[in-house]
Amino acid sequence: MAAATSKRRGNATIQVTVASRTPAEETTDWLVVMMTSLGGEDDARLPTRVRAIDRTLGGRIAAVVEMGDFRGARDQRLALYPEGKAAAARVLLVGLGDEDGLDADRVRRAAGAALQAAEQRGGGKLAIVLPASRRLRSAASAGAVAEGLILASYRFDQYTTQPPRNGAAASGRVGQAVLLVERAAETRAARAAAGRGVNLATSQNLARQLSNEPPNLLPPAALAREATRVAREVGLRVRVLEPAELRRRKLGAMLAVAQGSTNTPRMIVLEHNAPARGQKRRRKTIALVGKGVCFDSGGLSLKPAASMVKMKHDMSGAAAVIGAMRAVALLKVPHHVVGVVGAVENMPSGTAYRPDDILTSGSGKTIEVTNTDAEGRLVLADALHFVRGEYEPEAIIDLATLTGACAIALGPWAAAVVGNHEKLSELIVASGEAVGERFWPLPLWDVHRDHMRSRIADVRQTGGRDAGTTTAAAFLSHFAGDQPWAHLDIASVADTETAGPLHRGGATGFGVRALLEVLDRYGDAKL
Ligand code: BES
Ligand code: MN
Ligand code: ZN
Repeated sequence: MAAATSKRRGNATIQVTVASRTPAEETTDWLVVMMTSLGGEDDARLPTRVRAIDRTLGGRIAAVVEMGDFRGARDQRLALYPEGKAAAARVLLVGLGDEDGLDADRVRRAAGAALQAAEQRGGGKLAIVLPASRRLRSAASAGAVAEGLILASYRFDQYTTQPPRNGAAASGRVGQAVLLVERAAETRAARAAAGRGVNLATSQNLARQLSNEPPNLLPPAALAREATRVAREVGLRVRVLEPAELRRRKLGAMLAVAQGSTNTPRMIVLEHNAPARGQKRRRKTIALVGKGVCFDSGGLSLKPAASMVKMKHDMSGAAAVIGAMRAVALLKVPHHVVGVVGAVENMPSGTAYRPDDILTSGSGKTIEVTNTDAEGRLVLADALHFVRGEYEPEAIIDLATLTGACAIALGPWAAAVVGNHEKLSELIVASGEAVGERFWPLPLWDVHRDHMRSRIADVRQTGGRDAGTTTAAAFLSHFAGDQPWAHLDIASVADTETAGPLHRGGATGFGVRALLEVLDRYGDAKL
């Protein structure tokens, strides 16, 4: 990725600041005014702060509201041109929908929509009037706005050598945004929240970038180099286990997947708040484990051509773990957090592992191979074993684009959570909900675990068509141990073709925000 970094066109981070100045006096390219829905004809009263702006504009906002052209509906946008009446070159009204259901996610998306509108018309500087609402404190909206702007500004355009053909002249970037709070007393809290939002969103964009990188340029060794670079930048301890070390540790499940490719595997370990060497641990250890299949061809159980496209994203779990670890360091999470990534490439060749092989995993348990396309669970089996033996974590969360069945069950609207500990699963669902990332539980019972036993080995790799996401998790459970563990299948949400207010398609970086929220709540959750 080093080459990509040097010729990078976009993705310089937006400078986000917070101030308590008068919106109408703000000199800016875009004055963004976020508003919840206005009532029916008669009680379409503008909020106090907006009324002040409206007076400067000679009543233009009231006029467009009266005409019905703008009523604050969700995703509604309307640009006004003050022509010298206000210090801003343009005023952009952005709807938030009903006040009743207002939450951070709506504000995050509105900020993203505003940024995209501005960048389609030349970009420049934004000033954003934070929504005034009893439902959402200004600090919470400041955080959401910072996230929305930075997520929406992300582009994967480093490999195009020509500027885009459509609207090239008009399109530009937003480099700065100032968030305007109403009272000076709100500034401090809003500034802290915006800072956190910037760290979260830039880390999520890192996860997107890693996932978007093409597999010829980001094989396991390159992913390890990128993780190392990030670790050095933010002060994480980093360790990369080379193939010889993986063999010495007899991680036979992960190594079997890797053996078909000339791109050799790596185990990447990132550590935050690592105890000094020889010192006893004083903090809780939480482990994050990511599936890092840099390309999944299916191996000898080769995928059909159409299913193989986008399999560069099969390391999105790993990308989320690396992105989350960056945020963990920047936000100084008070726990000992270990991020482990099993990085491999799954290829068919004369040296590839086969269906019918019997593998001995790092744990010593033997595995009957039934489908080389179920490679992710093999990588995770050894990564889970490794992190347990090495760090004895109090809880483990793994993330993986593990099963197509997950997308069948939940569609692009949610990721699956499956595990051995109800409270941990609930913590993940609630945390995701709070940050706009949906997780939904699927069951894992003893019948599922028993279903994965093999007649000729300790466990079999696959469980057939029924309950594919659960049976994959059931396989993992044989390696995950008894401490609280949650498996997050993100195959349904890791990448998308449809553009939205926060992204233009490609990798989503799903999981980064939820993981940080989980870690934030972890101490009080008392698992
Ligand atoms: N990486 C895939 C899962 C996947 C599929 C992610 C589609 C994103 C989109 C995984 O390695 C896989 O191939 N799983 C198989 C498992 C099966 C062989 C038991 C699947 O889901 O078909
Ligand atoms: Mn596969
Ligand atoms: Zn895979």
